Amino acid sequence: LADLKGRDFLSCADFTAEQTVALLELSRQLKSGDRRIDLGNRVLGLIFTKASTRTRVSFQVAMARLGGQTVDLNPQVTQLGRGEPLEDTARVLSRFCDVMAVRTFAQQELLDYAHWASIPVLNALTDLEHPCQAMADFLTMQEALGSLTGQTLAYVGDGNNVSHSLMLCGALLGVNVRIGCPQGFEPLPEVIDQARNLAVADARIEVMTDPVDAVRGAQALYTDVWASMGQEQEQSLREEAFRGFCLNEDLLAQADPNAIVLHCLPAHRGEEISSAVMEGEASRIFDQAENRLHVQQALLAAVLGGL
Ligand code: CP
Ligand code: NVA
Repeated sequence: LADLKGRDFLSCADFTAEQTVALLELSRQLKSGDRRIDLGNRVLGLIFTKASTRTRVSFQVAMARLGGQTVDLNPQVTQLGRGEPLEDTARVLSRFCDVMAVRTFAQQELLDYAHWASIPVLNALTDLEHPCQAMADFLTMQEALGSLTGQTLAYVGDGNNVSHSLMLCGALLGVNVRIGCPQGFEPLPEVIDQARNLAVADARIEVMTDPVDAVRGAQALYTDVWASMGQEQEQSLREEAFRGFCLNEDLLAQADPNAIVLHCLPAHRGEEISSAVMEGEASRIFDQAENRLHVQQALLAAVLGGL
């Protein structure tokens, strides 16, 4: 992991399969207490143009556990909100902070931050990807199932940022990823191709329109909201389009008998997931939320050169 010092994490595809596996192992060690890392007083800047509970708090706590601190650079309270150019902001913040995490809409804006900043830039969610989430998801799957290679994760719902990162990260970890989504809501074809090209251990990346086909025999079932942040005005259109894609007990019954259920949260019970499944035996949703902390602590330690 020493080679990740100074690196950006803008996409799951930025790291190799070996680096991804090693980051999960470090996350596991940090979680169990087998490993402690103190980076001294380093500072993480958080630039979030969308709401966040888990990502914001887990980054803040991860940084505190590493002996550092976080500054909240919400554009509403900085000059960014009054139109100061990104290229100036990124260069100035690079003089104060040691790393920054950015949550925004366009992936291009994140790429622009990475271009102008001289410190590592981490993707805290864009419309294209949510890579820190995917790392936490596969850590959760590994904890529950023991190993990842050859297992199947079925994602039912919108072909969105979360689905993109699951395909890419799953491919690197040798996990078969099946996406079940209504026609017209598929993941981007270029991301599907990219995941197929990255796949190790013959991992299969498949996209289908029947949710039952997607979940059949799978070891992990996953869903996310039908309308992501920025798509609020499409809520009712999407409720119509995603009828039949609710992760409920009928769908769970088609999966492997020991299958686990994941959701990145926040969830809308009764829409993309039933209350019974969310609160049921198979759910690992709150372990998954906790794991954001451990994977982001590992990631911060790696890019800040603490290893
Ligand atoms: N899963 C996730 O990223 O949650 P937040 O939007 O609360 O950060
Ligand atoms: N797809 C969701 C994930 C939220 C964590 C969104 O982008 O709003």
